[in-house]
Amino acid sequence: METRNDSFLDTPDPREAVSALNPYSAPLEGRRKLLRLDFNENTIGPSPLVIQALREISREEISIYPEYSGLTEKLLKNLNKRNPNIQINSSEIGIFNGVDAAINAIFHAYGEDNEVMLTTSPTFGYYTPCAQMRGMSITSIPYEGIDYQYPFKKICKFIIQNNPKILLICNPNNPTGTRLSPERIVEIANLSSKTLVVVDELYEAFTGDSVLPFINFQKTPNLVVLRSLSKTAGLAGLRIGFAIGNYKVINIVNRVTGPYDVNSFAVIAAFAALKDQSYIDSYVNEVLKARNWLTTKFEKHKVKYHIGGGNYFLLWPQSGPIETEEKLKQSGILVRSMDQKINLKGCLRVSIGTIEQMKRFWSTFKLIDKV
Ligand SMILES: Cc1ncc(COP(=O)(O)O)c(C=O)c1O
Repeated sequence: METRNDSFLDTPDPREAVSALNPYSAPLEGRRKLLRLDFNENTIGPSPLVIQALREISREEISIYPEYSGLTEKLLKNLNKRNPNIQINSSEIGIFNGVDAAINAIFHAYGEDNEVMLTTSPTFGYYTPCAQMRGMSITSIPYEGIDYQYPFKKICKFIIQNNPKILLICNPNNPTGTRLSPERIVEIANLSSKTLVVVDELYEAFTGDSVLPFINFQKTPNLVVLRSLSKTAGLAGLRIGFAIGNYKVINIVNRVTGPYDVNSFAVIAAFAALKDQSYIDSYVNEVLKARNWLTTKFEKHKVKYHIGGGNYFLLWPQSGPIETEEKLKQSGILVRSMDQKINLKGCLRVSIGTIEQMKRFWSTFKLIDKV
């Protein structure tokens, strides 16, 4: 077998923007069997219908390219059942290999050298590398005050003065839980037709304040909404997400993905998960109950915390985030330190699971932090 030598270094230059890139990295390995409160995933797994559908997958299904027909219609049906005011049609929904892939594709299709991506900080970490890959410059406006309010006025002013190419709104925001009302999002989208407003609604199910019932994509074509089956339906490992927007925008974004980027397992699992919407709804309800239970404990024991929308909260342990993260890990519980993020010094982000799981978290945390 040939061994690598120095000539390996003599390769074509990558694009300059890619050479300079700080890739998005997350500590993803070695998480099996632990209580995973570090990535806001569903903590109990998908509906039994999903497991059954995957077990029954045929040899034929595996040997042919995936077929997507009917999936966007099924998603639409579920959305409409939840809110009959949603007026979209299936040509306004694109299917992606997780919302991460949808975000990447949006930047691929719309981002260009020296144009601006506007967002807030701290927020979900994947927007920045996607913008950098395309050579865009990034303006991040910090959340405001001790309760991390959305910097609405500053965002509006920046749009009016600079016409950024893409605005990323994470609603509710990961990790601060900040919620922005649908009316304000529509106001922002109406400021400039030159700005593509991307609303990442990954955690919307936990708050119910989606912009979808307030939007007609014919009238507001510069707005795109992102939804995923990772966090609520428990399909994070299979990778499936949706971009919802004007059919022209969805068509453009679809041009930069491969024809079969979403695999058959993900499609079959998505059909089964959407068939069992009540399983998803009852998981969301359980998380909301656990959220209330925890809040009562924090208040009673005067723990410094912050909870907004989403299935996660911020926590300031007395013994510091790094030490607490490590001690929790030794007890089989994973959480994420946010210490490096702007305005989150000393802080951990903890995902919310079932009440039982939160009881385990609380009793362990109490011992570690001497609450
Ligand atoms: C705000 C936000 N957007 C997108 C994603 C990625 O979602 P998906 O699993 O659908 O790629 C995450 C995952 O943590 C997230 O927190």
